[in-house]
Amino acid sequence: MTTDASAAHVAASQFYTGLVAELYDPLVSYRATADEYAGFLDHSGPPALELGCGSGAPLLDLVARGYDVEGLDASADMLALCRARAAARGLRVVLHEQEMQSMALPRRYRAIFLAGASFTLLASDADAHAALARVHEHLLPGGAALIPLTLADPAAPPFGGAREARAPDGASLRVTVLAAHVDAARGATRTRLRYERIARDGRCETLVREIATRHWPQPVFRRMLEDAGFARITAVDPRGGRASADAALFAFLAQRA
Ligand SMILES: C[S@@+](CC[C@H](N)C(=O)[O-])C[C@H]1O[C@@H](n2cnc3c(N)ncnc32)[C@H](O)[C@@H]1O
Repeated sequence: MTTDASAAHVAASQFYTGLVAELYDPLVSYRATADEYAGFLDHSGPPALELGCGSGAPLLDLVARGYDVEGLDASADMLALCRARAAARGLRVVLHEQEMQSMALPRRYRAIFLAGASFTLLASDADAHAALARVHEHLLPGGAALIPLTLADPAAPPFGGAREARAPDGASLRVTVLAAHVDAARGATRTRLRYERIARDGRCETLVREIATRHWPQPVFRRMLEDAGFARITAVDPRGGRASADAALFAFLAQRA
């Protein structure tokens, strides 16, 4: 058995690397669908950019539908998975390996979005402010950003809670919650996870890693968007309409004037 516990603390943007990236697709609990984002892209117009595109959901389905959308992610390992999935489907996709808080791309976009609340993975308010400024800078005048967010869930994931799957080669894949801490007042969570791949011959690969998330109440995030220069800011309910003031799940739509 090998345990790489020394890797528990990695830069926030490098959480999805190594064994974590390998196990992402088989163990993922939620995948955004192209249907959820097609309306936003239709309304904003091309070209578009998905931040934190990871292994390619919903990016590749959108590309397959003919949308001019590129992907950006900080993890080389997640982008390698995305490239492999694109190649397997015969899709051509433009991918950028950069952090969203420092991205510098040659193109400007009519739509920039995250699919799911990956913005909460930014480690600090400074990174969140920087990312919003970068998004604003990369939008064409009149272009729109869509940023899904969640509030910190006071019901921390239960200690020992696990998700399991079977790999095509018969290996057992597992992610287990070792510890979880929610600071609802600060809007921050920290979760220590153990990732395992147990081969059929019993050989075990293990990685322990900590993930942190940040959460901002709607009025705070609205101010952050204003500070970054955005206009026409609306908090929406992912199921449609405006988000209620106390929604735990919401998305911000905002425009570059
Ligand atoms: C929960 S995954 C979602 C991936 C994708 N939507 C999917 O399901 O394939 C979050 C992604 O955000 C990326 N990420 C995290 N922090 C980032 C940052 N600061 N800049 C760019 N990408 C980041 C991770 O590498 C990871 O691929």
